[in-house]
Amino acid sequence: MRIIVSGAAGFMGREVLALCRDGYRGALCVGCVDIRTGDGICTSLADCPAAADVLIDFSHHTGTLSLLAEAEKRGLPAVIATTGHTDEEKNGILRFSRNLPVFFSANTSVGVALMARLVRETASLLPQAEIEIIETHHSRKLDAPSGTALMLADSIREARPDLHPHTGRTGHQKRDPAEIGIHSVRIGNVVGRHEVMFSTGSETVTITHEAHSRTLFAQGAIAAAEFLIGKPAGLYTMKDVLGG
Ligand SMILES: NC(=O)c1ccc[n+]([C@@H]2O[C@H](COP(=O)([O-])OP(=O)(O)OC[C@H]3O[C@@H](n4cnc5c(N)ncnc54)[C@H](O)[C@@H]3O)[C@@H](O)[C@H]2O)c1
Repeated sequence: MRIIVSGAAGFMGREVLALCRDGYRGALCVGCVDIRTGDGICTSLADCPAAADVLIDFSHHTGTLSLLAEAEKRGLPAVIATTGHTDEEKNGILRFSRNLPVFFSANTSVGVALMARLVRETASLLPQAEIEIIETHHSRKLDAPSGTALMLADSIREARPDLHPHTGRTGHQKRDPAEIGIHSVRIGNVVGRHEVMFSTGSETVTITHEAHSRTLFAQGAIAAAEFLIGKPAGLYTMKDVLGG
């Protein structure tokens, strides 16, 4: 599987490159793209002539649509693992997926995909519960709340469409029962921790996922890339990669 890595000079890009060097799932990196110049790095996908089977992107959301435009020209399936997209950018990703197989997920960890299922089920079994999400990440992270926290809120809303996400809390008013409170902690080198609390008033159920290294996200992105090759145009997520 020949891969072009976008965001190749970043933390996640380097994790993907390290797995490719080890031949993880037959992955081979044939091209590196990053706006940070360096040895063997192209500054855009258009400048990267390598013939590849799939693109993996861990860069910045503002570059996603131009990246997909170039991927579409080449018929190159794209794994978009970058987070922080605006609604307009998300709509753009959806448009490209009409002509191209596109995988898009804010979290490529198998454990988080499982957590998304568990929070949906818990929300449906505790229909009156108050629900809050606390996410903790390293202090270099740019977007808040995390894409994963928003994804978990979406999973909860599949069972509880009456709820809406509410970021942070200040002021003097009571908690709105229709909100899913989302709180972002940025500190040190924490790779990623997501905690979802459900309280009925008489008991609290907490579901937690903690990433111990970035490798699991890179492994998941490579699994998604493998899944995407040969698929028809469409928008795919970790749910599709896991099956069921
Ligand atoms: N899906 C997941 O599971 C998952 C896991 C971790 C991080 N992420 C996301 O992946 C992204 C990258 O994370 P990181 O920790 O590696 O960040 P990083 O800042 O270390 O790396 C980002 C790299 O992208 C480059 N870049 C920025 N704009 C670009 C553009 N337009 N084209 C090409 N390269 C560009 C930067 O120069 C940098 O080298 C973030 O959005 C982060 O939230 C997703």
